[in-house]
Amino acid sequence: MPQDTFDERIAATYEARWPELFAPAAIDPVVDFLAGLAGGGPALEFGVGTGRIAVPLRRRGVPVHGIELSRPMAARVPPDAGVGVTIGDFATTRVPGDFRLVYLLRNTITNLTTQDEQVACFRNAAAHLEPAGRFVIENYVPHLRRLPPGETVRPFTVTPEHLGFEEYDFTAQVAHSHHYWIADGTTETYSTPHRYVWPAELDLMARLAGLTLRERWAGWTREPFTGESEAHVSVWQKG
Ligand SMILES: C[S@@+](CC[C@H](N)C(=O)[O-])C[C@H]1O[C@@H](n2cnc3c(N)ncnc32)[C@H](O)[C@@H]1O
Repeated sequence: MPQDTFDERIAATYEARWPELFAPAAIDPVVDFLAGLAGGGPALEFGVGTGRIAVPLRRRGVPVHGIELSRPMAARVPPDAGVGVTIGDFATTRVPGDFRLVYLLRNTITNLTTQDEQVACFRNAAAHLEPAGRFVIENYVPHLRRLPPGETVRPFTVTPEHLGFEEYDFTAQVAHSHHYWIADGTTETYSTPHRYVWPAELDLMARLAGLTLRERWAGWTREPFTGESEAHVSVWQKG
């Protein structure tokens, strides 16, 4: 991920730009699911951001630590929340201790834009887990079936205030997400590269890291994962 992707501008407006992520209906099922797996913890969040999930998980009694590349995002984890943050790249940064649970939310695996980095992320998760510990990823299923032949650009949101397009580079397996926010006659832009990846490739990365698939759901309330699912929550176990 480019170092400045989650810069001060995005960190300061993270909740305002994606308010749906902060609704109790979005947070509670994630915390329920993770707390159930952690069984008291400890847990490690890769890409902890502003602590959107880590803070309520800590309140649920699970000790949580985070690894985060962006200092502006990490600076917004409330200092009195009891969530420690190590600044670094979650593909390579090691923190002390063994964890019962490592988790990576909101498509953040795709912020690693090469296969090598994603493989390293699985290895790093495995290195942090105690025996039989779990690694959880929430990610989208790539939307390539929605692209007509010959097209490389797909809109994912079109409202008067927010336009979003994905622009695909099929050879690199990377999609650039372009956002345009329109307010008060001005347009603000934001673009990020994502290495999209199918569940089967993630399973292979898990195997390379000594992890085995235990659960795959379409969502946090354990909806069945099917060929039509647009997202998945996957759980791999060490050993
Ligand atoms: C989409 S946000 C999600 C934040 C938080 N997990 C949440 O659910 O609200 C992705 C976060 O991962 C961080 N991130 C992306 N790539 C990273 C990397 N390689 N190492 C550490 N943090 C990374 C970003 O800076 C950002 O804070």
